[in-house]
Amino acid sequence: MGAGKGLESKIEVRGLAKSYTGPGGSLVVFQDLGFTVKAGEFLCLLGPSGCGKSTCLNILGNVDEPTEGEVLINGRPLVRGVRSARTGFVFQAPRLIPWKSVGRNVQFSLESDATLPREAWAQQVQRVIELVGLKGFEHAFPNQLSGGMQTRAAIARALAIEPEILLMDEPFSNLDEITARRLRGELLGIWEKTGLTVVFVTHDLFEAVYLADRVVLLTSRPMRLYSEEIVDVPRPRSYSDDRLFEAQRRILQSFERLVEA
Ligand SMILES: Nc1ncnc2c1ncn2[C@@H]1O[C@H](COP(=O)(O)OP(=O)(O)O)[C@@H](O)[C@H]1O
Ligand SMILES: [Mg+2]
Repeated sequence: MGAGKGLESKIEVRGLAKSYTGPGGSLVVFQDLGFTVKAGEFLCLLGPSGCGKSTCLNILGNVDEPTEGEVLINGRPLVRGVRSARTGFVFQAPRLIPWKSVGRNVQFSLESDATLPREAWAQQVQRVIELVGLKGFEHAFPNQLSGGMQTRAAIARALAIEPEILLMDEPFSNLDEITARRLRGELLGIWEKTGLTVVFVTHDLFEAVYLADRVVLLTSRPMRLYSEEIVDVPRPRSYSDDRLFEAQRRILQSFERLVEA
């Protein structure tokens, strides 16, 4: 992999640092963080809770600012408040607007996006709702949906703007394993169809191995990049594929060295 230059790397994180200053002094979340994500790659950021994964993802999504360093998207630095590459964000909680229907929630992301003309909204909303398997629930309200369906709606909302980059923050961690498996499979299907670049945050090692082309292993706070592991298992992947367990074992050994260090 290595630090690619130019268009070959979709996202390039360089010397990224984030700290918070509060009454109790300064909290260093991470320092000198660097990694790249290639165009079309599925990258998982794996680290313990509280290490700074969400903070990092928010910076990639341009909704938070680093204390130091920069993020290049398609070779150009992110500028606060300026839209760069089309980026969809799926948060850990679905964060749907409770008084809007599923369709209106999805449309909401189009309303704040100037590229698609109003006449095309309805069709686009329908397309992504079908893509995530929510056909028939366009008029349902969030509190009428199961957790898995709410997550589907949040994914549809992120996909509506036809993003080049999809940032996902532990989107399946509150779901039961059966539903999570189904949604992971569907996500991979969408990813393969669209050629999206995905950065997926998780603290679940097996989820990371199942989904990713490459796993970036992060330490507890102050977070740093501990290692990068390529998951060289052919797709479509099966949960019972021994090669996934093999990859998991390799990463666990890396983790053990990290815990003992
Ligand atoms: N706005 C904030 N002000 C102060 N500290 C924060 C803020 N946001 C996050 N933190 C702290 O930064 C650390 C990393 O948080 P976060 O990125 O949410 O971790 P993760 O997503 O890996 O669980 C935590 O210790 C958290 O308390
Ligand atoms: Mg988090």
